[in-house]
Amino acid sequence: MAFLEAHGLTKTYGETNAVDNLTFTVEKGSFVSLLGPSGCGKTTTLQMIAGFEDPTMGKIKLAGRDLSAIPARDRGLGIVFQSYALFMHMTVAENVAFGLEMRNVDKAERKRRVADALELVHLGHLANRYPRAMSGGQRQRVALARALVIEPELLLLDEPLSNLDAKLREEMQLELRRIQREAGVTTLMVTHDQSEALAMSDRVLVMEKGRLQQEDSPFEVYERPRTSFVSTFLGKSNNFEAELKSISPTASQLLIGGRALTGPTVNLTPGTVEVAVRPERIEIVDAAEAVITGTVRERIFLGAQWMMNVATPLGDMLVIRRNAGRREAEIGDTVHLSWAPEHMRILPLNEVAA
Ligand SMILES: Nc1ncnc2c1ncn2[C@@H]1O[C@H](COP(=O)(O)OP(=O)(O)OP(=O)(O)O)[C@@H](O)[C@H]1O
Ligand SMILES: [Mg+2]
Repeated sequence: MAFLEAHGLTKTYGETNAVDNLTFTVEKGSFVSLLGPSGCGKTTTLQMIAGFEDPTMGKIKLAGRDLSAIPARDRGLGIVFQSYALFMHMTVAENVAFGLEMRNVDKAERKRRVADALELVHLGHLANRYPRAMSGGQRQRVALARALVIEPELLLLDEPLSNLDAKLREEMQLELRRIQREAGVTTLMVTHDQSEALAMSDRVLVMEKGRLQQEDSPFEVYERPRTSFVSTFLGKSNNFEAELKSISPTASQLLIGGRALTGPTVNLTPGTVEVAVRPERIEIVDAAEAVITGTVRERIFLGAQWMMNVATPLGDMLVIRRNAGRREAEIGDTVHLSWAPEHMRILPLNEVAA
């Protein structure tokens, strides 16, 4: 039995389905991200689990218990919202102790648990500081300690790192994951940042327009996107239309830009499909091996990599090449592009594609 279970979770505001028939599970001790663009329903989902919003339809279970009749304050959850609102007139230790006072935990026990929580977030030495005299990352850790001190069964994080600058954010990603592992707390984190979700999670739930698009490990969701949306939302992807001619148990036959190509097998009916190829899987080859030929329109040097935009009959293709210390194709050059059949993802045609 999964630790957290959502079944057909739906929230409707007037005409909008903010959350539309969401079903997912979170295993005990795991770190799961709810990833999707702005307005896709991530916060609404978290608010329903926290008990601040009632679902229009559907059920949430925690450790087998139906949460619908349990008020927010009795759910025993640790919550960190985007604006983590520390009490500025209280010290770090007082901020962290607050939730324990509310629960009438006695003084000696309170002291011990606050010290443990601050130790966990590496802030023991700043227990008597005021939040206004701390950096963003330190405040973020106080907010985490405050959520963890009550020893929650489930930790809910809504964009917890969004107001930190890029470098601190990367450091805190590692730090947050260490804290989560050490505390062993089951965690559901909302983020719209795909690299953050990939870097931190055991599983990623990708949402679009209130619906669950895919649930997988970070590696699988990047390598085997099942929809056009997932392929382009996580990382960069070259997507183009192709004709799926036939399928066998081991392969598929495709027509791409007038060329017949063999691809991986797929569970779709023949017809027009969308093919996705990652820019780092495209190779520059001799004319005889080309899948498609184009002209380099832009070229950017990134130190470890070259990034090129190549205009082809299939549309503009982004090509990423590792810098091998050699000269690369230049703007205006004709280049022949190819990729291995297994690097093609064959997806249902996205009718709303621009
Ligand atoms: N109280 C409300 N009344 C009406 N509509 C709402 C309400 N709360 C959210 N919505 C709508 O529901 C949808 C989902 O909102 P939600 O806040 O869950 O998105 P989100 O994925 O968290 O976005 P972001 O990344 O911008 O925080 C949006 O279209 C939003 O406008
Ligand atoms: Mg939100």
